[in-house]
Amino acid sequence: MSKDVQETAAEEFGSAPAVDAGSAPAHCDQHGDRQRHVAKATGEIVSKDLASVVGPADPTPVRSDGRTASNSARRQVARRAIGGSRVHARGRHQYRQRCAESTRALVAAVEAKDPCTRQHSVTVASIAGALGKRLGLSKRELSTLREAALLHDVGKIGVPDAILTKPGPLTSDEYATIQRHPETALEILSYVSFCGDERLIILHHHEHYDGHGYPDGLAGDKIPLGSRILSVADAIDAMASRRSYKPPFSVECIRRELTSGSGTQFDPDVVRVALEWLVENPPSDHSEVAESGNRSDRD
Ligand SMILES: [Fe+2]
Repeated sequence: MSKDVQETAAEEFGSAPAVDAGSAPAHCDQHGDRQRHVAKATGEIVSKDLASVVGPADPTPVRSDGRTASNSARRQVARRAIGGSRVHARGRHQYRQRCAESTRALVAAVEAKDPCTRQHSVTVASIAGALGKRLGLSKRELSTLREAALLHDVGKIGVPDAILTKPGPLTSDEYATIQRHPETALEILSYVSFCGDERLIILHHHEHYDGHGYPDGLAGDKIPLGSRILSVADAIDAMASRRSYKPPFSVECIRRELTSGSGTQFDPDVVRVALEWLVENPPSDHSEVAESGNRSDRD
């Protein structure tokens, strides 16, 4: 694993969003508007939680005998408010922890099916995050992208092992089965409430920039940016890793494949930052690497 990947790997499992971005109004297209909406929504949630713990926020509490509350009563209300904040923070921490645990369980389930793909999801998440940073994504967008990358192959749970680990080329029926994995992922993740924007990124991570990918044949910027980044990150790790059907590719071979796929399979802007990234973060040396080979879109 490269230095950049190692540095970012620790961030991957704790990045579940605190607020569902899907609740943002449609007019919040600009990043600033969206951020303000998220901050406002977070504030509203805190206020609601506080109200349920400390009661309505009355600045001058009145006692049963009609007089205003004493300073000690005010201090008591203040103490309860501070306690409420702690309860809320603890609840949010527990929610994030449960999201991270659910993500880990799903990643472990898919990686258990094919030992060759162990660490693939974590490495792809790190590479996608590094490319996203270079493309100027916001902190929140990076968090969504990394979460999507971690879960991008969860649909392979529905692919028979004999196809997934087949050493030779796939038949057209077997390839069609593999091609269903983005939609299977969508079905599986529809039960997971914390994955909103992530589902869309995952669904389209095998679309090609020229419109010849799957499942919907989207082209250009009709493909979500997160999916275009994930596609390149996925291809880099797949090429750099050993698979049942191929040895790892050399860095030069990976660079050539990315360059030849620029504008057809891959977004040229993403390829540009990927080539820059590869200069600083070449994949780990392998004892046996292929200087050329047939790249497959199986990952
Ligand atoms: Fe995939």
